[in-house]
Amino acid sequence: MNTQTYDTLIVGAGAAGMMCAIEAGRRGRRVLVVDHARAPGEKIRISGGGRCNFTNTGTGPANFLGENPRFATSALKRFSQHDFVKRVDQAGIAWHEKTLGQLFCDDSAKLIVRMLTDAMAEAGVVLRTGTGVASVARAGDGFAAVLSDGTAVKATSLVLASGGRSIPRMGATGWAYDTARAFGLRVTETRPALVPLTFETGLLETLLPLAGVAVDVVVRNNPDPITTSAASSSPKGDRPNDMASSSAKRDRPTFKEAMLFTHRGLSGPAILQISSYWREGEAITVSMAPGVDVLARLKAARDENGGKAAVHTALGHIVPRRLAESLCEREQVSGKLAEVGGKTLMRLDAAVNGWTVKPVGSEGYRTAEVTLGGVATDQLDQQTMAVKTVPGLYVIGEAVDITGWLGGYNFQWAWSSGWAAGQVC
Ligand code: FDA
Repeated sequence: MNTQTYDTLIVGAGAAGMMCAIEAGRRGRRVLVVDHARAPGEKIRISGGGRCNFTNTGTGPANFLGENPRFATSALKRFSQHDFVKRVDQAGIAWHEKTLGQLFCDDSAKLIVRMLTDAMAEAGVVLRTGTGVASVARAGDGFAAVLSDGTAVKATSLVLASGGRSIPRMGATGWAYDTARAFGLRVTETRPALVPLTFETGLLETLLPLAGVAVDVVVRNNPDPITTSAASSSPKGDRPNDMASSSAKRDRPTFKEAMLFTHRGLSGPAILQISSYWREGEAITVSMAPGVDVLARLKAARDENGGKAAVHTALGHIVPRRLAESLCEREQVSGKLAEVGGKTLMRLDAAVNGWTVKPVGSEGYRTAEVTLGGVATDQLDQQTMAVKTVPGLYVIGEAVDITGWLGGYNFQWAWSSGWAAGQVC
C-alpha cells in the first residue's frame, strides 16, 4: 500500500482545524487536513444567517461552559478576539458589530472560509475533502491512519478537529469523541446546546397561536423544581452548575435577549442561551416585559379615561398585542380595565414577568448550534491542547469540553484552540 508521510494530520476542516493547519503550515510543517464533507468550513458558511458571527469583543472564560471553563483562558489570551479581527481586517473583509459585542461580516460568511482556505494554501497545507478516516492508531512515536479512500498516512502529530454532534446532516459525527476514547481519554457527557426548547402537547396547543411572536425577555434557569409552578411532582434534574463552575451566578444564569414563540415551543437567542444550562425536569422563568412594573402601568391605565380601555388593549401597550391577548385568555381576564380588581392585575403582572414554564425537551442535535461536553480538559495542556498522556495527539475546537454562549464565542474558541495547537503540532 502506498503510504504518504506528513508531520501533522488534522481531521476536520472546520474553524478549528483550518486555523490549526494555517499555523502549523506557517511553521514549515507538512500538514494534511482531511474532511469527509464536500467543502471545508461548512458551518462557517451557514453561520450567523450567512454572515458569520465570527467573534465577540467581550470574549472571556465567563462566556463558556464545561467542567472547567477556566481551561479556555490561556488559549483565549494567546490568540484573542482582537487577533482574529486583525486577520479579518488584513483580508479586507468588512464587518460590523451587531449587538452585545457580536461581530458579523457585512457581506458573506464565505469570505471567512475563503480567508482560511487561502491562508492554508499559502502555508502549503494539503486539504482533502470528501475523505474520512477509516482507522487510526499509534505507530511508534507517531500515528498511522488509513483514509476512507484507502490511502495510508503516517504523521507525527494527530489533531482531532472534527467538532461535535450538532447538525448531523452537515456531516457532524462523534468521531472525535470515539477516537479520544480509543486513546484512553475521558469524554464528559455530551448533549445538544444552543437549541430551541419544546413543550408537551397540551401546553403547546395553548401557545400555538403565538407562533411567530418575538419579544425581548429576561430568562433564567430555575433548577429547583420546588419553586416552580408545575414542578412539584417532577423528577429533580441535575443542577446546571454540574457542567459549570460552582459560583451562584452560574447556578442561575440570566440572559436578556429576544425570545421567539414557535410551532414546537420556544426559540430565539434568549432560549438558545438558557438551553445550555437547562436540564430535563427543570423549569425556566421568563420575564416578558423586563424592567417594566406591569402592575403599576395597568393601574395607571385603569385610572385614565375611567378605565374604558379593554384589559388586553392596555396590556398590548406593554407586550406584543397577540401575546397580550393570549395572556388575558390564559388568565381568563376579559372586559374593561375598570371592571377588574387589583388582584387580577397582579395575576397579569405575574403572568408577564414571572412566567415559569417547564420544557419537556429540546429539538436535539438536528438544530442545536453546538454540543455541550466533550473531551475532558483535565487531560489536555491548556497552552497547546496537547493530550498529556499521548504525545503528538491534540484535541481542539468543539470536540473539547468547552462550550461558548451564543454570540461568536464558539468560533473564537475554535480559532484560539486551533491557533494554540498550531504552534506546536
Ligand atoms: P466544525 O463542526 O466547524 O468542523 C468539524 C469538521 O469536521 C466539519 O467540517 C466536519 O465535516 C468534519 N468531520 C466531522 N466528522 C468527521 C469525520 N468522521 N471524518 C472527517 N471529517 C469529519 N458559532 C459562532 O461563534 N458564531 C456563529 O454565528 C455560529 N453560528 C452557528 C450556526 C449554526 C447553524 C451552527 C450549527 C453552529 C453555529 N456556531 C456559531 C457554532 C460553530 O459553528 C461551531 O462552534 C464551530 O464550527 C466549531 O468549530 P470546529 O472546527 O470545532 O468544528
